[in-house]
Order: sequence, then structure tokens, then C-alpha cells
Amino acid sequence: MTGVVTMEDIRSVAVIGAGTMGSGIAQVAAFHGFSTILVDLDQAMLDRGIQSISKSLDQLVNRGKIDPEEKRVVQDRISVTTSIKTLAGVDLVIEAVAERLDVKAKIFAELETIVSDSCIFASNTSSISITAIGSNLKLPARLAGLHFFNPAPVMKLVEVVAGLATDTQVVDTLVRLATSWGKIAVRAKSSPGFIVNRVARPFYGEGLRMLEEAQLGAEMIDAIMRACGGFKMGPLQLTDLIGQDINYSVTETVFKSYYQDPKFTPSLSQQELLNAGWLGRKSGRGFYDYSAETQPEPEFDHIRFGGHFQIQDVVESDLISSLVDRIRDHRIAIPKLSKGDEGVIRFSLGAELVITNGQTTIERNRGREIPGCVQMDYALDYRAADAVSISVHPELTEEAWVEVYAFFDFLGIRSCRIKDLPGLIVLRTVVMLINEACDALHHGVASAKDIDLAMRYGVNYPLGPFEWANRIGVRRVAECVERLNMFYPTGRYRLSPALRMQAEIDQPFEIE
Ligand code: NAI
Repeated sequence: MTGVVTMEDIRSVAVIGAGTMGSGIAQVAAFHGFSTILVDLDQAMLDRGIQSISKSLDQLVNRGKIDPEEKRVVQDRISVTTSIKTLAGVDLVIEAVAERLDVKAKIFAELETIVSDSCIFASNTSSISITAIGSNLKLPARLAGLHFFNPAPVMKLVEVVAGLATDTQVVDTLVRLATSWGKIAVRAKSSPGFIVNRVARPFYGEGLRMLEEAQLGAEMIDAIMRACGGFKMGPLQLTDLIGQDINYSVTETVFKSYYQDPKFTPSLSQQELLNAGWLGRKSGRGFYDYSAETQPEPEFDHIRFGGHFQIQDVVESDLISSLVDRIRDHRIAIPKLSKGDEGVIRFSLGAELVITNGQTTIERNRGREIPGCVQMDYALDYRAADAVSISVHPELTEEAWVEVYAFFDFLGIRSCRIKDLPGLIVLRTVVMLINEACDALHHGVASAKDIDLAMRYGVNYPLGPFEWANRIGVRRVAECVERLNMFYPTGRYRLSPALRMQAEIDQPFEIE
């Protein structure tokens, strides 16, 4: 396509839709010096939009990030209108109206009769195909997705989405523009869920399944995911924050869009929350009850015996080296230390503590004389973790497993014994995030580097999925997914071809 403006040519921006997203996006554009027109059918929404921008700028003033004069300058750059007919001179239009294909397509069709051919069209849609939105345009090459996250002025990530007809120059311009607005801009191919809403599905899905299968409280699953997995929020508290209805509907849309792929099957227990009207924070109740003064603390099992334990020997692998460091920091005697591929901490009464590998503890112990296996969850960093889930072989004697509790207790790590499920809580979730990221890579949705950036900045994961895979070991991750798949032969856990191929060559993913 010719004639599309480059970033340097963009001077004025129009944002259509003055709701939650549109007002935030208008603020970002004006903050970075662009003359911005905010458009809505409804004058009351425009007034509310301007008010919310003013409040958000006030927060920046109060935090000393800008002075009141700068606030005034930013606000002066924003004008409002209820008529798109006035947009003739704008260089970029960002649409953020209701999530409906017919509404969006109609707006862009009308805009084509108003603006010049060089004007770029962008849609903030989170789930509609960019190809479909552009399909009836005279110049579909000028349209791309520009998917901000809520709240737009705060969240760093923007997905720049190319439909089938989108000109790469349009994508390049939007990436450069979003970057100059202080955002992390990643490129994605138009496909259901783009990057974040697709790759994040297992985060919620595995949390919900653990809730159903392990019969653990939401507060325990969330606590383990934070304290052991290093996530800022647990999956169930996050669904409460997002809204159970919204989170469920994104899962359902992705599920339907991928032709009922079992990877994305929605959760019945989440649907029950919807049936009850327990939508999360906004309705006062979801997995948690927000009318209560404080949220319940999970009840960990780490019995404070002040108990006795004695380590017999340790095989240090890269995965448990941070735990071995913590043992050393606590000056715990390690009578025998060696290095190996599979880390083990052996205790005097027969317990053998290992990191879960996707097998059940019973399976993993099979063929051995002593039922000594105790599996622990995979921590992002055992030096920082202050909780861990463990699964104990049912025939291990009480005095033997109590040594493991006493060990964690001494290190200041709360432990929770859970049902013997493969992958425990954190590892199961993390490998499934990696597996989905690999599928997105395999289908050419985005590069590994952009997928990692998207997950770190769009949903604040402590690591990108590919960085995680490299850290755990690509082959180990693939083996873990395959074991989950054997345990649950429903198709939900099938190994991504990209992960299989990488595991075969046993090389880290390239993410630089
Ligand atoms: P909203 O409901 O808060 O705002 C939509 C606004 O569009 C309303 O003010 C409405 O009056 C206006 N509008 C509707 N039809 C219009 C038309 N023909 N011309 C001009 N204005 C019109 O919606 P929200 O949440 O801001 O979402 C907007 C878009 O952003 C949707 O496509 C949504 O999927 C997407 N999105 C939403 C996120 C969120 O967390 N709310 C996150 C990322 C994307």
C-alpha cells in the first residue's frame, strides 16, 4: 500500500469511544504531545471520559510526576466531539467502541469517506479478527489492531496486530509510535486471543482445575502461586479482579474460535460462580468474599514441631541449586554432596525430596523398594519462596515425612501437602503456559521474544514462557507436558509441535 503516513507524519490522533479504554488511550496520546480528538456518540460519555483523564492526571501531579501546568497542557491537547465528520484532517484513528464487529466495521467504512487515504486505522479490539473488521474497506491495508491493556496509561504492553491485508508499513509505524509513547509494542498475527489472551488461558484454566481436583481452597492455590511461583497474583484472585463473567467469556470465545479445542475448555466451577452472580470484586463476592474485613489465610500444614530432621545426602542439580544455597545459608549440615541431573535431598529416615516432574508421586516411586518419594513444587527461586506444595508417597512412614516438614519449617518455608496430582500447582501451570506459548510460536502468531515480552508486560508474569522453558530445561518441560497428557488423555495437555521439536534438539529457545 502506498501513501500511508510514517510515524513522523502523525500529528493528530482521533480516538473513537470515550469509555474505559478510549479515554485512557486519548490520555496516552495527548500526554506524548499529540493533538487528540476524543469521539463518542454520547456527550455524557465524553464528559465522563474527560473527567477520568483529569483524575488520572491528578494522580500523576500528586505523585510529583508532572506539575499542574503540564496537566493543563495535556488536557488542552484533547478536544471532544460527537461527530466523526469532523475528523477529516487526522492522521491516525484508534477505535475503542463496543466489542462488536458490525459496529466497528461500520465506523471504519464511514471514516473512509471522511479522512485522507494516508490516514491509519487502528482497532483496540481484544477478540475480533482484524481481517474481518477490514474486509469491507476500500483500503484494508491501512487497518491494524492496536490492543492496549487496562488501564491504558499504566499498562506497558500494546499488541500491534496484523490482519491478512494489513500493510507491514502500517504495523511498523504503529510499533514505533507505541514505543515512543513509552509502551512495549509487540507484533502479532490476527488470530483468536492474539498473544496474551491466548497464552494466558492455562494460568486461569490450571488454577481452576486444581481447585476442582485437589479440593484445595482458592486461597491456598493463590498463595502457592505467589509465594512459590513468583506470580504477583494467584489465578483465582486475578479472575475475581478481572470479573468472573469477563474471564469466562474470554475463555469461551477462545474455545469456540479454536473449534472447541480441549486446550481451552471452560471450567464448570467458574460457570457456577456466574450462575450465582458471584462475579468477583465488582459484585462483592467471587472466590473471595469482599464484604469480609480480611481475606482468609490459607492453612498450611507445616507443623511447628521445632522438629528434628537430618539430611543424609544431597544431589545438587541446576533446578534445586537455589534450595541448596538456602540450606547452606541456614548452616544445615550436608554430610554428602554431589552433582547430578536430577536433584535429590535424602533424609535420615528414608524420605527423598525431589522436584515434581509431571508424574504422580506413586508413579515416580514405582519399582523402588522404599516408598520414599516426596515431590515438591517448582519454585521460581527457592531462596525467595516462602511456601511450597508437596506430595508424599502414601506409604511413607509418618516419622519420615515429618522430617520433610521440619526441614521446610526450619528454612522458613510453609508447606502444604496436597493430593497426588501430576505437576503439583506451579510446575503444572508453568509448563502449560510454555506449551501454549510454543503453539502460538508454531502457528506464527508472534516471535518467541515478543511472546515473552507480551506475557511479562501484559499480565506481569515474572518471566516470559520461553525464558522459563530455558531455565527449567526445554526437554524437562516437554517430558512434563507428555506425562500430564498421559495422565489426562483428553487432548488438553497435548504437546505442542514446537516444544517437541525444540526438546528433540535439546536446545534453549532463542529469545534475544
Ligand atoms: P466501554 O463500554 O467502556 O466504552 C465504549 C464506548 O464506545 C462508550 O462510551 C460508547 O458510548 C461508545 N460508542 C459505542 N458505539 C459508538 C459509535 N458508533 N461511535 C462512537 N462511540 C461509540 O468499552 P471499553 O471497555 O472501553 O472497550 C472498548 C474496546 O476496547 C472494546 O473493543 C474492548 O473489547 C476493547 N478492550 C477493552 C479492555 C477492557 O479491559 N475494558 C481491554 C482491552 C481492549
